[in-house]
Amino acid sequence: MIKITINGKVTEVAAGTTILKAAAALNIKIPTLCNHDLLEPYGACRLCLVEIIDGDWSTVTTSCNYPITKEIVVETESTAAVRARRMVLEMLLGRCNTSPELDRLAAAHGLQSSRFELDYDDCILCGQCERVCREVVGANAITFAQRGVDRVVVPPFGEEAEQCIGCGACVYLCPTGAIQIQEDGEQKIIDRWSRVLELKYCKSCGVEVAPVFQCDYFQKKADLPTDFFDLCRDCRVAQR
Ligand code: SF4
Ligand code: FES
Repeated sequence: MIKITINGKVTEVAAGTTILKAAAALNIKIPTLCNHDLLEPYGACRLCLVEIIDGDWSTVTTSCNYPITKEIVVETESTAAVRARRMVLEMLLGRCNTSPELDRLAAAHGLQSSRFELDYDDCILCGQCERVCREVVGANAITFAQRGVDRVVVPPFGEEAEQCIGCGACVYLCPTGAIQIQEDGEQKIIDRWSRVLELKYCKSCGVEVAPVFQCDYFQKKADLPTDFFDLCRDCRVAQR
């Protein structure tokens, strides 16, 4: 166990615990946009910046992917930490000005607008969509492509994401609302991934079950009977 002091509060954590997790254990909130407990830390949004102080020396660093390996003192609301987070937020706002979550965080940091105006879309490249699809769902339907200012998250070759099962995990985790899922007749559509999925309906009561491709994916993955998804959950339970 290693002693850590955050904003004057002292605790002990197991070696390797991130500063973000140690802060959460002390009920100290650090803003994040690319971190989720289900996903490996990625350090993309740079919003979780904190100041580490060691005597006369200090540095500002991301807390979500900083493993604690020795006794340290951290300040989450120091002038340097808050100034750095404001700059990050201003750049994110310059890239995406349609996200209520970003607006909320900006307001909490005293920012109403951004000096930067970048002609991009709503995606802030946090990578949560790509990671949840790869790490949790296991579909690997989308990926990062290109570098620098041209970096994007796209389906392979920029065509329809043929591995996408339409689970909606990316939609759920996207902090900016850049991914929308819609239903049109008997199809589920995710425009951002150019994905169109045919829907499956319960053979007994007719309610929507899930996209056919998703049913097939989980049937094979969990080795379920081939007719498992012919019925919705309620009808399956009723027929037991
Ligand atoms: S689409 Fe959303 S979840 Fe994916 S990288 Fe962009 S902002 Fe993050
Ligand atoms: S939450 Fe740490 S960099 Fe995004």
